[in-house]
Amino acid sequence: MSIENDLYLTKDYDKKYCMQVFAPLDVAFVKGKGSYLYDTEGNKYLDMIGGIAVNSVGHGHPVLTKAIADQAKKLIHCSNYYYIPGRSELAYNLCRKSFAEKVFFSNSGAEANEAAIKLARGYFHYKGEDRYEIITAKMSFHGRTMATIAATGQEKFRTPFEPVTPGFKYIEFNNIDELYEAVTDKTAAIMLELIQGESGVHPAAPDFVLEVRNLCNEKGILFIDDEIQTGVGRTGKMFCYEHYGVKPDIMTLAKGLAGGVPIGATLCTDEVATGFHVGDHGSTFGGNPLAMAAGNAVLGIITEEGLLSNADYVGDAMMTELQRLAQKYPQVVQVRGRGLLIGIEFNSLISASMMRSVLFKKGFLVSAIGTSTIRIAPPLSIAKYEAMSFVTALEKILKEESKNK
Ligand SMILES: Cc1ncc(COP(=O)(O)O)c(C=O)c1O
Repeated sequence: MSIENDLYLTKDYDKKYCMQVFAPLDVAFVKGKGSYLYDTEGNKYLDMIGGIAVNSVGHGHPVLTKAIADQAKKLIHCSNYYYIPGRSELAYNLCRKSFAEKVFFSNSGAEANEAAIKLARGYFHYKGEDRYEIITAKMSFHGRTMATIAATGQEKFRTPFEPVTPGFKYIEFNNIDELYEAVTDKTAAIMLELIQGESGVHPAAPDFVLEVRNLCNEKGILFIDDEIQTGVGRTGKMFCYEHYGVKPDIMTLAKGLAGGVPIGATLCTDEVATGFHVGDHGSTFGGNPLAMAAGNAVLGIITEEGLLSNADYVGDAMMTELQRLAQKYPQVVQVRGRGLLIGIEFNSLISASMMRSVLFKKGFLVSAIGTSTIRIAPPLSIAKYEAMSFVTALEKILKEESKNK
């Protein structure tokens, strides 16, 4: 039995048989092409959230779908008991494009961060140093496993599941004084998002990031850069750290790396990779031929189609227009972000979920984060005219809203 084109049955079965941890909009998508998604009724939506920064090369990209289909016909999975050509190739490609010298592959962002946390602790263990504390930022988001909710600097993700993994400390994001106070001789790592995506798109201050790097160098602490949302071209550079002129010791990737096929990657230097010995870490699915084929195809498409400069160009154009709206409409409090990761914060008259619903009814998909911010993270391949159609729609809504006051 297929219920693919039946929204009513899809909802019914979801409510009965799926754990109710999401609060989905009243829609099911069955097809995607480029920057657009199509629902069960054939309605078309401009995907301004790209599967939460995942559909990096758009929907149904012919090169990506061919790479996945070709690989699926040859070999989907064989386990890490064996060498995997696609895994060697993707590791090589990621190292070539970044500071890194070694990669571990997993299946999600949380797993990539879990590996980063274990790696940092393992690194000091094997050096014979008793360091295990990890400093993270308040309002950060690092995932939903037990260690990554402990790393996440938001109580609401931890409270129902306590006791969580010990050894984490939280400082105010961008607060250098609190950072210095938090460091002890037990500090193993400082773990940060360079743009806090899940809590409202808040970029790190350049002097703060510089200070983190200096402090890490001075005290031998590892800098873990969580680029699960910001990596793979999202901000107009391959990795967000490039904007800051510093290099991390460990970096995590996921979301956009394989264009929608589940993947996670933990990257580090050769020196830090000594934190894992054979048998210390692993994953049944991680690094499998299918996900690796998708990852290699995505990196190829990003280069071939100039998607970094597209993200930079369209992102800048959108930022300029959104800043104009912020000047013109008092309902817009602030616009933040970089490249194609942008948060638009509204005043108390507009709730984020209400704005998300109104945009949805007009054919635009965004996410609501917190009570007052909507986030946009469209495919890196989005055309300027498509992005501008979103700005036009948003302006119309704001204009209407002003008239109704
Ligand atoms: C910065 C960051 N880290 C980690 C995660 C967790 O990734 P996943 O949902 O793939 O486990 C996310 C997801 O939104 C994220 O934005």
